[in-house]
Amino acid sequence: MKIAKSIVELKDHYNRMKLKPSGFVPTMGALHEGHLSLVSAARKECGIITVSIFVNPTQFNDKDDLKNYPRTIDEDLGLLSDHLSENDIVFVPSVEEIYPEPDKRVFNFGNLDKVMEGAQRPGHFNGVAQVVSRLFDIVKPDNAYFGQKDFQQLTIVRELVRQTGNKVKIISCPIVREDDGLAMSSRNQLLEPSIRKNAGAIFTTISKSSELLKTMEIENVKKYVFNNINLLPEFNVEYFEITDNIELNLVKRKSQMKKGNKYFACIAVKAGKIRLIDNVEIQLL
Ligand code: PAF
Repeated sequence: MKIAKSIVELKDHYNRMKLKPSGFVPTMGALHEGHLSLVSAARKECGIITVSIFVNPTQFNDKDDLKNYPRTIDEDLGLLSDHLSENDIVFVPSVEEIYPEPDKRVFNFGNLDKVMEGAQRPGHFNGVAQVVSRLFDIVKPDNAYFGQKDFQQLTIVRELVRQTGNKVKIISCPIVREDDGLAMSSRNQLLEPSIRKNAGAIFTTISKSSELLKTMEIENVKKYVFNNINLLPEFNVEYFEITDNIELNLVKRKSQMKKGNKYFACIAVKAGKIRLIDNVEIQLL
């Protein structure tokens, strides 16, 4: 695989390769099986793959989170070299390469960035939209691969693509989980062992909530989820919401749910100092 630090190197490689379709896997590094599943999905469909590794400062609303975000570039390149071919490319730009000027763009996503992660992390999705649109302009992929774990991000990226008229096909890939059900995330490696050992409860609890919704009202299911997780030492649920996957309207009563629509149970939990998010699709029938 080729490693490019600059846009010029990246474009030069693309022009020489002339392979189609091109697949793009944007990442912030600290790679794990979840990222590799995106690479595998791209491998099945694309002649050339670009993986970007860029910790995007504009999407961090918390300076400490940006400072502490795991950076494991040597391990990342080692992993990628086992999964990419000689035609593929890893793009590892500097902040100056991506943002030669400060990005002042403000996107309007309506309700999509007002709820859940958007409400908890003001400005986060504007930063995601800035970097994703910038990376799409640089890489110009035919397909781009995103994990379903970042459910709201995926919805917003689809809306970004709709608003900008970009022809890139957004492909969502299933969540990859640890043996105990914890959704794989770069942040998992920051969990204290005493907290990590209980973190599988997030998935088991939201899976159970999907079961409970068959017979219980949303309000009571929410109480169950909050109680079940908050009784674990140092676990605090930030939100647990049921939402559709198009407009991200939060559903308060089961009677508001329409047959044939898809709904997801989404959760954010502060586990010690680390925020974890997860979601499951609701099977009502
Ligand atoms: O999901 C992520 O890792 C990031 O938000 C992304 C899409 C790479 C943008 O920085």
